[in-house]
Amino acid sequence: MPAVSANACAKLILLGEHAVVYGELALAIPFSALRARAAVEAWIGVPAGRIHIFARELDLDQEWSSLPDNNLIRNALLLVLSELGIERIPTCKLNLSTEIPIAAGLGASAALAVAVMRAFSAFLGHPLAPERLNALAFESETLMHGTPSGIDNTVVVYEQPILFEKLRGFEVINPCSDWHFLVADSGIKKATALTVSQLAQDYARNPLEIGAVIHDIGQLTLEGARALTQGDYAALGAALNANQELLSLLNLSCPELDTLIMAARAAGAGGAKLTGGGMGGHLLALVRPENIDQVRAALLEAGAPHVYHTVLKGAHSDG
Ligand code: PMV
Repeated sequence: MPAVSANACAKLILLGEHAVVYGELALAIPFSALRARAAVEAWIGVPAGRIHIFARELDLDQEWSSLPDNNLIRNALLLVLSELGIERIPTCKLNLSTEIPIAAGLGASAALAVAVMRAFSAFLGHPLAPERLNALAFESETLMHGTPSGIDNTVVVYEQPILFEKLRGFEVINPCSDWHFLVADSGIKKATALTVSQLAQDYARNPLEIGAVIHDIGQLTLEGARALTQGDYAALGAALNANQELLSLLNLSCPELDTLIMAARAAGAGGAKLTGGGMGGHLLALVRPENIDQVRAALLEAGAPHVYHTVLKGAHSDG
């Protein structure tokens, strides 16, 4: 069996995180500059059934049989074996690396699972078609987070901007022009499972008020998707800001995110909000090309450990 490598991108939720878990629309784009990479090669001269995993960023250098039941990599491998109906496990080495910060709102768990599943299924001679890969990645996310909406695995598998709805699936959207975003780290790690369950508890205690906020987030997503496809910078910025206020009402922001978001807006960003699970993790800011340096400098000055620049390419752009 020849060595095989594969990778998967990070993602950014522009609008609608958390509300999407309750059936509202959300808008997500691939964050292609940051990736998880997996390589699988045969492990010659070793008895069948052994898989050695090396993943520096995850602190793993061991055989899969010694991983706990809830380990993401172990689950990703098992899901592929079961999907392909393979009982005799081939002896191999899996090398995994990731540039995507973990527990920081950028879809690291979905990207790691997708990279592993892509490489392992191809190594076994049966590369998974996108629909099956997406279904397995959703199962992996369910094992990790409990009640995922499915938006992370979908945007990671298809690597396209999508408007996503839990019950109806997704639609690829086509921005008419290029959009620039800065993405900054609040420096705080927060597991998505925790923020999702926190909101679920609040919702159960206060269904009317929380339900109304969640509904309003869905409406903002619709407005933001229209703005994105029509090239309406001011309207997308306003939707991002309004979404942030609603996420704050749901207690999903935190002082560190608030400081950075205010700094980005004051330096000229068209809009800024947290992205992903919240209570920490990353924020995104919509910027015009001429504001990038200024907003980046303001974010760093306000304490962001990292600031990335990413471009969502429009249908009429040449690059
Ligand atoms: O924190 P991340 O990157 O896993 O994003 C989670 C997005 C949520 O809407 C909060 C949860 C979900 O399953 O959609």
